[in-house]
Amino acid sequence: MEGTRQRGVPPVKGEHPQKGGVGGDEEGGVALKKEIGLLSACGVIVGNIIGSGIFVSPRGVLEQTGSVGLSLLVWGGAGVVTAGGALCYAELGLAVPRPGGDYAYVMEAFGGLVGFLRLWLLVLVIFPTTQAVIALTFASYLLHPFSPAPCHSPDPALDPALRLLAAACVVLLTGLNWASVVGATRLQDACAAAKLGAISLVIVTGLIRIAQGKHFWLAPPQAFPGEGVAGGVWPGAGPLALAFLQGSFAYGGWNFLNYLTDELIDPPRNLPRAIFISLPLVTLVYVLANVAYLTAMSPQELLQSQAVAVTFGEKALGRALAWVMPLGVALATFGGVNGSLFTCSRLFYAGAREGQLPALLAMIHLERRTPGPALLVTCLSTLLMLGAGDVTALVSYVGFVNHLWYGVAVAALLVLRRRDPHRPRPFRVPTVLPVLYLLLWGWLGGAALLREPLLCGLGLGVSLLPAPLYLLATRGKGPRPTALRSACDAVTHFGQRLFLVVYPQPAPQGDDLTTHSDDPAPHSNPRQPLTSQPHS
Ligand code: TRP
Repeated sequence: MEGTRQRGVPPVKGEHPQKGGVGGDEEGGVALKKEIGLLSACGVIVGNIIGSGIFVSPRGVLEQTGSVGLSLLVWGGAGVVTAGGALCYAELGLAVPRPGGDYAYVMEAFGGLVGFLRLWLLVLVIFPTTQAVIALTFASYLLHPFSPAPCHSPDPALDPALRLLAAACVVLLTGLNWASVVGATRLQDACAAAKLGAISLVIVTGLIRIAQGKHFWLAPPQAFPGEGVAGGVWPGAGPLALAFLQGSFAYGGWNFLNYLTDELIDPPRNLPRAIFISLPLVTLVYVLANVAYLTAMSPQELLQSQAVAVTFGEKALGRALAWVMPLGVALATFGGVNGSLFTCSRLFYAGAREGQLPALLAMIHLERRTPGPALLVTCLSTLLMLGAGDVTALVSYVGFVNHLWYGVAVAALLVLRRRDPHRPRPFRVPTVLPVLYLLLWGWLGGAALLREPLLCGLGLGVSLLPAPLYLLATRGKGPRPTALRSACDAVTHFGQRLFLVVYPQPAPQGDDLTTHSDDPAPHSNPRQPLTSQPHS
């Protein structure tokens, strides 16, 4: 996911809020040290993007495009579009120096309601769905050796086992994140190594096979429609758009560096540079991995494989080493779920600090300093998503919803330029880039909506669902009714006792903690470190 370190994390190094990575700021409070150089910035982007997607999406992309050649083009194209979006985000990140990434940009350009919708969608839909996809990938790689027909479609009898195992993974990791930040961080590092190992093994093996001349399915006559999987039919706009959404899942997480701009050394220089280096690198890795898969199996085999990297291992690595792939991917995805849980709970924290989520969700355990309530909510919504659909549907769903919001943020760039032309913009993209991005965005979104009206319509509906809640909550400028206030306080009190949690900063003006239930310290620094976090 935004697999490892992700969105909205109060960016901290070190274990205790008061040490490591923090220094004094001009107001006498705490500020983050600038310590991310270009190399680490690239590491953050690449480590955050590459996760489960490259082990699940190749099938979805091939299914929609119907041919090897087009699917490789979609993988490359998704990388180019992602890089375009990332450059627009770089301008935004430097022009709107507020924490919160695109959540802050859309709020600045379009107001609180739009920011609120983005935040709720992230914490209640995007993170849980992504976690569900990664957990299901984990389960299918782990169960693969027990599947009766290794290369073929999944045995429906295994489906409940798959979901149960995915659920167990989510619950276990929620427990770990609840119990110990250090434990979660260590696990994250180990899994990141497994992830790198697995993807490198695929690519290197693929290159060796190409050198040995094993590239039948990659040669143009086989690769393009005519002889392709779909029997010579070029796909229309709808399937292409869906293929793109499948591929863009694997690129998800590219905007994470925007959450860390405070910590970057020389952001105007390093933010765009990191994008120019990382995104071509990820695109290359993804295209090469797909090429590698196709040196070892036919497109038909790829379409039938539930766990493409395992099939690859069985065919290309031989019996003796075939176990390496399922293990590597299972570990990598286990780490993906872990990192995502960690990050999502920190985004809750950032949102609650802005006053847009209940304060209870920002609270941390008295001793362990872990965000129990936020973890619980993330865990429950992920479990809900696990029951909701299969991997391909979930990927399209989350791909579409995400896609929608990237467009809103790029539109924010144009709105801010028009409304506030003199604001300092240390990095500016040529105007044609956001305009092209938005045109493509509209086309892709429209085509996907027409092709999958139910799935995408649901995504659109869910995006707008919390609007009435926001309007209700912010109706009128005066104080909220006393009854509502004390109900909120009661819930917060109860939650605090249940979870043994407190608000992570000393309450301003000597208030008692629970008085923050519906006014969570909006002026305090939302980037105040909470705890340490996993490294990608
Ligand atoms: N790219 C991640 C992977 O391949 C998934 C991911 C991370 C993601 N962040 C995301 C997907 C945000 C959609 C949205 O595992």
